[in-house]
Amino acid sequence: MIMNILNYAHYLLEGSIEKGETVIDATCGNGHDTLFLSRVVGSTGQVLAFDIQQEAIDQTRQTLIENNYTNVSLILDSHANVTSHLQTKDIERVGGAIFNLGYLPQSDKQIITSGDSTVEAIENILPVLKSKGLVVLVVYHGHEGGKDEMQTVLKYAMRLPQRAFHVLQYGFINQQNDPPFIIAIQKR
Ligand SMILES: C[S@@+](CC[C@H](N)C(=O)[O-])C[C@H]1O[C@@H](n2cnc3c(N)ncnc32)[C@H](O)[C@@H]1O
Repeated sequence: MIMNILNYAHYLLEGSIEKGETVIDATCGNGHDTLFLSRVVGSTGQVLAFDIQQEAIDQTRQTLIENNYTNVSLILDSHANVTSHLQTKDIERVGGAIFNLGYLPQSDKQIITSGDSTVEAIENILPVLKSKGLVVLVVYHGHEGGKDEMQTVLKYAMRLPQRAFHVLQYGFINQQNDPPFIIAIQKR
């Protein structure tokens, strides 16, 4: 079976994250990926979940309460500032990260992730990522501003040095209406 985009994003992360690690949800939104990550790292691990909207932080908190997960730090800040929320013990130990680009579903479509802050966040995460760790981006680009961000992120990812990173693109090429795709960056 060919996996759909979200299942494949989770499959990649589940295969590389270990219990007890610190991991990052760079865009927590309604909290679906946060919940997934918190299950994968278990009670001894920790998820740092970022969003710039209070609404998203509140929604994610609610999702976690309903599912009895307590291993998440909810951070109302841009993912570009990720470094200031990491502890010394996490340096080169971060187990993985996910970005779900675009806007918060059923909310203000003007508040979107931007190429510049997304790239800044990736640049800050790659040095603290463990060896063989993954940064997975789910790139939605059908909305206004989405193509600009897609180009910025693709350009950045394609130029990452091959000796240091494996960079994968995964997506369906016969779907209509700007289907999302995955960029996965693995530190070698
Ligand atoms: C597509 S949604 C995420 C969906 C989420 N993964 C889920 O499971 O529901 C994108 C989110 O990114 C957030 N966002 C936009 N710019 C951001 C930034 N610089 N740092 C952190 N979050 C940001 C938006 O507020 C929005 O909630």
